[in-house]
Amino acid sequence: KKPSSTVVFIFGGSGDLNQRKLTPALYNLFIDDFMPENFAIIGTGRTDYSNEKFRGHLLEGIKEFSRRKNDKNATWENFQQHISYLRMDADKPEDYNGITKIIDDCEKTWGEHPSVLFYLAVAPQLVPEIATNLSKLKINKEDKKNTRIVVEKPFGHDLQSAKELNSLLTGLFEENQIYRIDHYLGKETVQNILALRFANALFEPIWNCNYIDHVQITAAETVGVEDRGGYYEQAGALRDMVQNHILQVLCMVAMEAPVSFEANEIRNKKSDVLNAIRKINKHEVQKYAVRGQYGSGWMQGKKEKAYREEKGVNPESATDTFAAVKFYIDNWRWQGVPFYVRTGKHLMEKTTLITIQFKEAPKYAFPSEASETWRANRLTISIQPEMDIRLRFQAKRPGQTMSLNPVDMVFSYNDNYDEPQPEAYETLLLDAMMGNATQFMRGDQVEIAWEVVAPILETWESRPPVDFPNYAPGSWGPEDAEALIARDGRTWVTLP
Ligand code: BG6
Repeated sequence: KKPSSTVVFIFGGSGDLNQRKLTPALYNLFIDDFMPENFAIIGTGRTDYSNEKFRGHLLEGIKEFSRRKNDKNATWENFQQHISYLRMDADKPEDYNGITKIIDDCEKTWGEHPSVLFYLAVAPQLVPEIATNLSKLKINKEDKKNTRIVVEKPFGHDLQSAKELNSLLTGLFEENQIYRIDHYLGKETVQNILALRFANALFEPIWNCNYIDHVQITAAETVGVEDRGGYYEQAGALRDMVQNHILQVLCMVAMEAPVSFEANEIRNKKSDVLNAIRKINKHEVQKYAVRGQYGSGWMQGKKEKAYREEKGVNPESATDTFAAVKFYIDNWRWQGVPFYVRTGKHLMEKTTLITIQFKEAPKYAFPSEASETWRANRLTISIQPEMDIRLRFQAKRPGQTMSLNPVDMVFSYNDNYDEPQPEAYETLLLDAMMGNATQFMRGDQVEIAWEVVAPILETWESRPPVDFPNYAPGSWGPEDAEALIARDGRTWVTLP
């Protein structure tokens, strides 16, 4: 099924996100025949672009970032005819008439009333003004059902600002018109967590505190902050990755079984998890959370600058480029099971990995020399770059002695499917065009997620770090992060 006729307006049209992710995703959808019969993509911004020049700018992005860049059937010529540029000042209400005119023109040409998607790929401080102006447009007054607004992260800077933004947006639009995007929810492997858990009867009976010792989520990156120092200074790893992506993934792992795939049903179940996360007492933050910042050093044969030397960064910056937290979920299913999460820039590997570590066998009858570890007993879900699920268990090594040895039973996406994987933004843009908000965040989820990280943020901000920088590029982060988990007799898992 395809979306009905749609006009997509991309605010921040000349920006990085559009060039790298949004237009390449729309282009891939076009090649795969998921775009509506009638559609128009309109980039807006202050830069003075002709349509021609704007298209050229987007083509460069496609050539570099589209997974279909080498596609022989790539029909850029055809696709580009759907793209145009509207120069406008987002803070001038009169400039929004240009939007109404485009929608009216499309309606005339197509002979039907289009759905409209406003994608706000802009700096967060511009969102309130643009949203206010958009809400006043004729289209939003007349057709709320088919008018949608997509808001990029960061959604607020803290609990207070997220609440303010939610209250502003919900005053202007209905909740079901607002699509708060978290691109991790569009990743194939993240969506597959629901299939693994709820389309099989095998795992669910043991998916709880009776059988699971602990859960780990690692979202490690090898890149530093690149040219985003200005943004990152105000964010840090906890805001940039934990408050959104990691907590959303944690919800997929920990949620109860939904009774349907209806957007609010799934989102209710996730909100239940977020609500059950134990709020860390401010006096105990040190026990539950570790922050880090990378120094300079050699990584993969290249000398990397310290974070404090990056462009746009304060030379005495206290911003965290690494965060590790131990969470508890206080409900029946997860009572007493720690969820260790960690994320950071300039770490040893680019990897996003979920580990479900099962409990030790009740009685280990084998002689101790048979094996040193019971930790084989685990399921790992690799989100990226490897896309696989592996169940590691003990096997008897062939031979006359009883010697145990961990082995992996692996399901690999690439080995099992020839179909290419759609990128997260493809999936989410298609959902937004179809009016399916299941994989988007509801207002309450964003707020509870801020509540969860608030005590850590507030404590860190009130107590400047004394040991920054505290990890070398190419390492696994600060030593304290190892200690966080080692204190409990456990270790971080990385795949071989
Ligand atoms: C973004 C963060 O939301 O996610 C970036 O702002 C981070 O700092 C990126 O690099 C990671 O996304 P992915 O899909 O590459 O894991």
